Amino acid sequence: MRSRRSCLAVPGSNPRFLEKAQTLDVDEAFLDLEDSVAPSAKEEARRNVVAALREGDWTGKTMAVRVNDLSTQWTYRDVIDIVEGAGDALDCVMLPKVQDASHVMWIDTLLTQIERANGLPVGRIGVEAQIEDARGLVNVDAIAGASPRLETLVFGPADFMASINMRTLVVGEQPPGYTEGDAYHYILMRILMAARTHDLQAIDGPYLQIKDLDGFRRVAGRAAALGFDGKWVLHPTQVEAANEVFSPTQADYDQAELILDAYEYHTTVERRGAVMLGDEMIDEASRKMAIVVAAKGRAAGLRRTTAFTPPS
Ligand code: GLV
Ligand code: MG
Repeated sequence: MRSRRSCLAVPGSNPRFLEKAQTLDVDEAFLDLEDSVAPSAKEEARRNVVAALREGDWTGKTMAVRVNDLSTQWTYRDVIDIVEGAGDALDCVMLPKVQDASHVMWIDTLLTQIERANGLPVGRIGVEAQIEDARGLVNVDAIAGASPRLETLVFGPADFMASINMRTLVVGEQPPGYTEGDAYHYILMRILMAARTHDLQAIDGPYLQIKDLDGFRRVAGRAAALGFDGKWVLHPTQVEAANEVFSPTQADYDQAELILDAYEYHTTVERRGAVMLGDEMIDEASRKMAIVVAAKGRAAGLRRTTAFTPPS
């Protein structure tokens, strides 16, 4: 799986941002043709995005393009122009406002045809599906299983809040007057369950108060604690925070690697299933939890600072 702690939104109509994005330390950049691009700039944005993918230096980043949603007249031409123009420089297409499995099947079929017609390897380009309204959430299990190309489910809080008439204008913050808990808990968990059922990554969407870094950390930390893999970033100031919040701490990473080594030693050399590591009892379930943390730590480039020594 690709690391997606920070997923940078880059408006396709802005050549300066397309240039700047290449210098940022993000796991993924997605070049946008949808809501950050004005209707009159859609065609120019397609050309900018193809040129940026072809000529830019995106080393180390997963590259995606967000096309327009299926209720518009732009989607098919977005996909064709981008994939024919720069398909070999593209990892994923992001489809916004996915409402049911047929939307994913549509883009899967179109991608297959374009890949075949252009001699590209069939099935290499992945799909990221944004869940942005009530219908998408109700159908999220079927959406998550709709194509082997799917890599992520992405929560789109701004469109989602509008779709359910949530009474707030501050994206990602609790609606004023709701003091009972976290108004996003159900939505995030619902998306996470569907993602995990189908081995997809779960990505949290944007936090629009870009000056409020504490707010960003709080909202990102909430999604990370549940198990989300990453979050959108809209501004350079959010990048470092996202990479940090969605990486395990050094202590957790070290502990996870220790658990894996200790468990391996005790189950193979000592042939026991439940063993002690320091004061903690570890078993097969501990190993599974440790695998998750260790994998995220390795993907984030962490190095071990402790080593396992077998009991003498
Ligand atoms: C992102 O697309 C959102 O609607 O929040
Ligand atoms: Mg949206």
